[in-house]
Amino acid sequence: ALDAPFHNEADTDWSLTHNVRWIRGRVDELRNAPPAFVPLQIAGQTVNGSAEEAGNDPSRPGIVAYRHALAGPEQVEQALVAAVDARSVWKDLGWQGRGELLCKAAASIAANRREAIAAMVLDAGKSVMEADAELSEAIDFADYYARSFSKDEDFDGLSSEPLGTVLVTPPWNFPYAIPCGGILAALVAGNTVILKPAPETVLTAWVMVNALWDAGIPREVLQFLPCPDNEIGRSLVTDLRIGAVVLTGAYETARMFLSWNPQMRLFAETSGKNSLVITAAADPDLAVKDLVKSAFGHSGQKCSAASLAIVEAEVYDDPGFRRQLRDAAASLKVGPSWEYDSIATPVIREPGDALQRALTTLDPGEEWLLEPQMVDGNPCLWSPGIKLGVAPDGWYRRTECFGPVLGLIRADHLKHAIRIQNDSQFGLTGGIHSLDPAELDQWREQVEVGNAYINRPITGAIVQRQPFGGWKRSCFGPGAKAGGPNYVALFATWKNDRAPH
Ligand code: ALA
Repeated sequence: ALDAPFHNEADTDWSLTHNVRWIRGRVDELRNAPPAFVPLQIAGQTVNGSAEEAGNDPSRPGIVAYRHALAGPEQVEQALVAAVDARSVWKDLGWQGRGELLCKAAASIAANRREAIAAMVLDAGKSVMEADAELSEAIDFADYYARSFSKDEDFDGLSSEPLGTVLVTPPWNFPYAIPCGGILAALVAGNTVILKPAPETVLTAWVMVNALWDAGIPREVLQFLPCPDNEIGRSLVTDLRIGAVVLTGAYETARMFLSWNPQMRLFAETSGKNSLVITAAADPDLAVKDLVKSAFGHSGQKCSAASLAIVEAEVYDDPGFRRQLRDAAASLKVGPSWEYDSIATPVIREPGDALQRALTTLDPGEEWLLEPQMVDGNPCLWSPGIKLGVAPDGWYRRTECFGPVLGLIRADHLKHAIRIQNDSQFGLTGGIHSLDPAELDQWREQVEVGNAYINRPITGAIVQRQPFGGWKRSCFGPGAKAGGPNYVALFATWKNDRAPH
């Protein structure tokens, strides 16, 4: 299978009613009868852990959806010992053997699609369609990383050594694809892995690791270790047996990890405050469609989401544009994630200070184009909100809020718009809508983001076509992009051992 060329996996076709029935059935079953308990898994053995925690369903906050184990110091030590013990056998399998197992993993993830979507609907509050796209991305990661270095063990006189054991600490907003990608990149390079899933989405992570084990990836090389974010988690992150840490999360979390251990080899993809520029030369229909998708997909809870649109005055002042944008956002179905056509699904938890402020407060000069409302008495469920008159240096422009709010900034011309777009400590994604090639050239050259998108949404990077990763404070480490050609090489150390001739 490694010989076949890479291709991207297609999403499910939801225009077919049998596909809708197929997913609805499983989503309802899992909601009504979730697994009683998700354990730890260490050295191939199921382990109960030191404590238990409730798993939530953001569509029904306050209800215990399932329960899961949490590691204590003893299980952290066992997982580290197991990960070290498994290193040599896994390394000896070689790139080819490991790559073939990743191809099998891709097939196993594909076979797992229904279960995985249902799990994400339950614990991440993801819509069926968003969860489905995530499955395609996970399959792509497996197939793509499988082929990264599969031909032989010696590349132009360089040989590789795994880093040892890699700790993967993913976020809850892409609870399947992001951990899966980190795990598989580390594994294919010969490392053993400890997964510390996001506390909010332990069930989804469990479904995912089971798909990998079912594919034949040895249980011994991948420890499943839900672990509290306290001194126990800290002892894991800072343990000297960990060769690298893969983090996707907040900028502050990455800083905290490095303050604990400045020597840590940290590959982190962190915060963003992403914007889409719309110029007077844009096709307004396309711009509105892509802006709404980028801002409100998964209710804005993507590191890649557009929380700002920087709009050229002529368009910004046009009542037709405003009406179209408002109506498009207002037409999105707000509802619990288990309703398969919900787009504005619940946020992961009751809004914290920043999101609460963004949803309920206007700063001087701002006004609502569309005022967000709490829906069904669920503090996690909010209809989309759009603010006009956001100041280029105001609170909202500077703060990552991670929710269903979009702010509009008025720009005099493209140069002004680019200046505002680049005036950020973050640089993850950014976009432009314009049909003028000269404007696009100017923008492409000047924009300071890792993923710069033209006339398309700014979320939903496709493996191989749009390798993903940011600039500035959106990235820690060497900055190789996930789903791109250099990513797997991060997880090895390279030796030039060519014989003289
Ligand atoms: N890779 C995810 C996206 O592009 C975060 O939206």
